[in-house]
Amino acid sequence: MTEMILALHGATTSLVIECPASGPPLWRYWGPRLADDFASGPALGDTRPTPSFSLDETLSFAVFPTFGLGWFGQSALIAHRAGQDFAQGFGAAEVEWLEAGKALRLSLVDDVAQIAVTIGLAMDGDVLTISTALTNRGDEPIDIGWLASATLPLPDDAALVRSYSGRHNGEFLLCEDVLGRNIWRKENRRGLTSHDAFPGGVVALPATSAHAGVAYGAQLAWSGNHVQSVEWLDDGRYAWQLGEWLAPGEMQLAGGETYATPDVIATCSLAGWAGVADNFHGAIRRLIHWPDGQMKPRPVHLNTWEGYYFDHDLPALLTLADAAAEVGIERFVLDDGWFLGRDDDSSSLGDWSVDPRKYPDGLGPLAHHVVAKGMEFGLWVEPEMINPNSDLFRAHPDWALQIAGRPMQTARNQLVLDLSRGEVCDYLFESIAKLLRDLPISYLKWDHNRDLVAAGGSDGRARYHAQILAAYALFDRFRAAFPDVEIEACAGGGGRIDAGIVQRTHRFWTSDCIDAVSRITMQRGFLQFMPPEIMGSHIGTAPVHSTGRTQQLDFRAAVALQGHFGVEFDLVKLGADDRARLGQWIRFYKDWRHLLHGQIWQGDAGDNMLWHAAGSAEEWILIVYRMQPMQYRHMPPVRLPFVRLDTHYQIDRIGPDAPSESRSFDGSWLCKAGMPVPPMMAECAAIYHGKRL
Ligand code: GLA
Repeated sequence: MTEMILALHGATTSLVIECPASGPPLWRYWGPRLADDFASGPALGDTRPTPSFSLDETLSFAVFPTFGLGWFGQSALIAHRAGQDFAQGFGAAEVEWLEAGKALRLSLVDDVAQIAVTIGLAMDGDVLTISTALTNRGDEPIDIGWLASATLPLPDDAALVRSYSGRHNGEFLLCEDVLGRNIWRKENRRGLTSHDAFPGGVVALPATSAHAGVAYGAQLAWSGNHVQSVEWLDDGRYAWQLGEWLAPGEMQLAGGETYATPDVIATCSLAGWAGVADNFHGAIRRLIHWPDGQMKPRPVHLNTWEGYYFDHDLPALLTLADAAAEVGIERFVLDDGWFLGRDDDSSSLGDWSVDPRKYPDGLGPLAHHVVAKGMEFGLWVEPEMINPNSDLFRAHPDWALQIAGRPMQTARNQLVLDLSRGEVCDYLFESIAKLLRDLPISYLKWDHNRDLVAAGGSDGRARYHAQILAAYALFDRFRAAFPDVEIEACAGGGGRIDAGIVQRTHRFWTSDCIDAVSRITMQRGFLQFMPPEIMGSHIGTAPVHSTGRTQQLDFRAAVALQGHFGVEFDLVKLGADDRARLGQWIRFYKDWRHLLHGQIWQGDAGDNMLWHAAGSAEEWILIVYRMQPMQYRHMPPVRLPFVRLDTHYQIDRIGPDAPSESRSFDGSWLCKAGMPVPPMMAECAAIYHGKRL
């Protein structure tokens, strides 16, 4: 019996699978790159005598481990057929190379349980995309309780999981957990991606730091319920699983039906968790579908929400548009409050026609005015929602997700529409498409302001999975009909940020909290998984509505520069000096966005200073933030691990009113010893432009 070794090589990493002649594929390796002609030595089984108190034929860690036939770790599948076929197992896989050395498909068949499983693995750079599909080959339905998108091997010295928790107004809160012998598990059952459990994480080895050492990352491309777990295995390795969390009974496959899981995007980097972020940024950039196939420079936004809330007054908004154009705004987004009877959050979701009390001649006068001023016009919608107090609900109370005999629990006074009903999506598409056809709208901010509960359909069955697929289809329908319209994904801020929705959208609203101090931490979490150009980051007002803190305009601007820059307050109320200053910051962003939306690096400089750099190793912008008052007598130099060691840099201090300062440094000095920075007050920033000499 001979085994076959399958290897996928990336630029700096490799993945190796052993396919025994008579058993299912086994994990052998995922980590730093092997030689092209590496030899993996004897088959795994040949190096492992049977331990005491074990099956005579013990099972090794399979690419698709299953329950009931000798594997005692987490299964990639929990399924049964009316109580039968609860155990599954596979023989040798059929291997099909889709691209030599880069992409393959493993096909597994269990003739007893009558299921077939295919696993796709593709390596691009150092990023793996993995997905799994299960087909019911029997005549009777099979119930799937769990089907992992991927089960990945982690080495025995995996030490730490960095995952992200949070809440509305406080997304991307870093959680660091030490891996031990107990299972580490994170689940989300909120029905959308959620504020409190980002569907992914980073695993680091003991010596790994932000910019050095081996780190692994994975994220699930899915906008609904999800699970990830890391489990210690009895050969010392860890198994990392990610997949969709399935509600009871919601995934029942009739004979011949297939459940295809969401993809997992995974990567290994030798450059710490910053390297993982960099790999993810490349992968996410490849997933975004820009109008015309290419991202245009990210336009400066003005969003009306925090400046105006529901108080839409046409003359005031026309004046705002004039002021916005004057300071250099490029996209004017009219937020919530424009549609029939929407004076607060208690009514009208679902009634997607313009409120004639606020806009007697429709949105045309405002939209055309905005466009005439040289800006794009964007509009807020929340298609998946319905208020009980709406004409739509009065006409179709059965359109909301619900369970007979259970209360309809509102959140922010609203319920969720059952998108798996074709007539619901047709209604939503037609009513919003009419606006897109009639008006010069080039942008939608698409919101989703609540979790799903009692998410049952008219047949009484759970609709969580179906809801996400139907939402994706609705996004896709809009994208197909209006390919030039960009879409922002929002869910009470950052409740729907993931690699699934990003394939249909072009920007995320990171958080409803626009406090610059809070945002720095949240934006760091966001940037672990997503690139900067899709991170909505606005200059808000002071004091901040969500926290009550006050920060200087310059600091707020320096924090907003990390992402897709915008303004979210009533700038008509700004004094002349502040308005001029805001205009300078907008100009600054426009001048440097080509670097700000390049490769990024982030670090901690000590004594409560953080830094963020963007561009390339040849030319970059560096922003140094002082978060708290100085505790050291002198500011420590900032070490820059991303520069080229073999070159010199010209470094200039830049930004509105920046002191004139121009120096040159050797790259090795910047990297190892660091760049001196001046003393700063708390909540201040210094910005530098570095260029290779
Ligand atoms: C959510 C969004 C906000 C705003 C409001 C409107 O909270 O995150 O940005 O659009 O809804 O109701």
